[in-house]
Amino acid sequence: MSENLLTIETTCDETAAAVVTDSLQVLSSVVASQDRLHERYRGVVPEIAARAHLERILPVLDEAMRRAGVGWDAITAVAVATTPGLAGSLLVGLMAAKTICYTLNKPLLAVNHLQAHIYACRIASGRDVFPCIGLVVSGGHTSLYRCQTPLEFHWLGGTIDDAAGEAFDKVASMLGLGYPGGPAVARAAERGRPGRFQFPRPLLDNTDRLDFSFSGLKTAVRYAITGPGRCDFRQLQLDPQTVADVAAEFQQAVVDCLVGKALLATQRTGIRTLCVGGGVAANRLLRQRLAEECQRCGVAVYIAPSELCTDNAVMAAIAWERYRAGLFEPLDIDVQPGLVRQSRR
Ligand code: KG4
Ligand code: ZN
Repeated sequence: MSENLLTIETTCDETAAAVVTDSLQVLSSVVASQDRLHERYRGVVPEIAARAHLERILPVLDEAMRRAGVGWDAITAVAVATTPGLAGSLLVGLMAAKTICYTLNKPLLAVNHLQAHIYACRIASGRDVFPCIGLVVSGGHTSLYRCQTPLEFHWLGGTIDDAAGEAFDKVASMLGLGYPGGPAVARAAERGRPGRFQFPRPLLDNTDRLDFSFSGLKTAVRYAITGPGRCDFRQLQLDPQTVADVAAEFQQAVVDCLVGKALLATQRTGIRTLCVGGGVAANRLLRQRLAEECQRCGVAVYIAPSELCTDNAVMAAIAWERYRAGLFEPLDIDVQPGLVRQSRR
């Protein structure tokens, strides 16, 4: 009989729970998105996110258990993402996990959300992908890791300002597109004509660094639509073709930077496997360019399916690795909202 892990994810604005077996079979996965609550602010409002998690966590847990078709006695352990994320959001997931562990006497496992994004590739592929280079590209993070084993992640570089997903969200807002911005920009870009605008590829030519920078790119977009020296874009009425052309060139620039640095990381480390996760990894152009360039360079690439790229609890099944290593947590652990770059276990 298989062992079952109950996993919980509440780092940002998705309330999610899943049941995953020790052979990484997904018995259930429930994700309650808060996109509609944050849409009017064009970004996540931490207080609203925490309150919404509180309202949703119990129904989401119940639904995950119901869909899995297993009773509480069939749950071996409970895993929860404790870092990095919004403090108020993380706390709701951790308190739920602790309560279950305390009342039902189950062991508690902690999950690093960024490592889980990379592990989504392991779960989806069914293959042992380690050692690999991990690229996490999401709304809050854009980082490259050397992932030696599922328990040993070394930070190689990352964004020195905005995350790629954040840049997508801000550019969508400037262009009057919806929230979340990534899918909206990608949709607009489909009708775009390449070459009308020229945006920079920050740090791409600097082969000494495995870092990214998206804030200057955002400013370039702003000036392209407002004209030089003016920055208020709120009153602008952009024609649909201009929106599409800006979206297409912006998306191309972000993808060039991500693909270029990910391949540079494989060259610098000699690791010929690349795993890509996080919400922006759902981007069609990025997936296509990664597949092409990795094939050209002889690098094996794994990109999680879209539903495992955006936040979900299935990827928290990385906690089985900690379970097997005996890395359990005491019930008085706290959340760690900030990013801890280096991690051996
Ligand atoms: O991983 P995720 O769900 O949450 C964080 O941990 O941040 O990532 C959300 C981010 C948002 O910024 C969203 O705009 C972006 O992922 N995103 C995309 C696409 N789908 C989601 N960006 C580009 N293209 C997409 N198709
Ligand atoms: Zn995420």
